[in-house]
Amino acid sequence: MKIITDIYEMKKISKDLKKSSRQISFVPTMGKLHDGHRRLIEEGKKYGTVIVSIFINPIQFGQGEDFKNYPEDFKSDVEILENLKVEYLFNPTVDIVDNTKTFLIDTEYSNQLCGDFRPIHFQGVLTIVMKLFCIINPDIALFGLKDYQQYILIRKMVEDFFLDVKIVPVPSVREECGLAMSSRNSYLSEGDKKTACNFYKSLKKTVKLFNAGETLSRKLTVFAAKELIKIGFKIDYLKIMDKGLNIDKQYVSAGDILLSAVRFKGVRLIDNIFFE
Ligand code: PAJ
Repeated sequence: MKIITDIYEMKKISKDLKKSSRQISFVPTMGKLHDGHRRLIEEGKKYGTVIVSIFINPIQFGQGEDFKNYPEDFKSDVEILENLKVEYLFNPTVDIVDNTKTFLIDTEYSNQLCGDFRPIHFQGVLTIVMKLFCIINPDIALFGLKDYQQYILIRKMVEDFFLDVKIVPVPSVREECGLAMSSRNSYLSEGDKKTACNFYKSLKKTVKLFNAGETLSRKLTVFAAKELIKIGFKIDYLKIMDKGLNIDKQYVSAGDILLSAVRFKGVRLIDNIFFE
């Protein structure tokens, strides 16, 4: 696997790949790779040559967030990527964001959910993803549905800027107990991870209640909140919206989505589930 740190070298490699008519599938990550990332890469392979990026992006972390101790294991990441036969890893230095004076701001979808609690987060995400798209110029880019709001924002950015990149969503990969895989899970002890499994279980129970006939959003979210609080989670938000994240649903129907962020033992977990 070729590891590229220089932006201009990466640009040249991407251009050459295009010249040789190879489609580029791009998987942006912040490293500490797990089976969720692996799934994105496997999916990407179906479309073309995979380029993975690893960059812990300082501009998407707010004050008091975990930028300084965000989990990292470059050696193991390289091993994982080599085993997956990834050809290119882009691992830029902080130069990619230093001195940036132009930022991308969404005016619609980031003022809710995670955006309420992490005010500059999505501006940082959109800005780095746009920079990476400009350098790599991918045909396809893959994003996980675990970060549903991020996926919706990226999709809208691509639409608004007429970018020639197809955004492919990838379902959440979970531990056997249901806990969505996340680099941040490594902050939790094995025992705490077991408790964290109840996050998704509570969301599933809420969908079950819907399936039993309850369609009032308020009742469903109160039910979910009680479940989560009982386990010991602090709730940042718990919301039912349409799948485009345009409407707060009062009455829930199949295809809507329940989104939540909770804090447990100082670790922030996010997850979501569709009503079906
Ligand atoms: P990171 O958290 O490393 O995630 C990289 C990609 O993996 C994202 O598209 C995310 O949704 C996906 N992913 C994470 N956990 C997953 C899981 N359990 N199942 C399926 N997909 C999963 O998201 C970021 O990094 C950053 O914000 C980034 C887009 C790289 C910009 O800095």
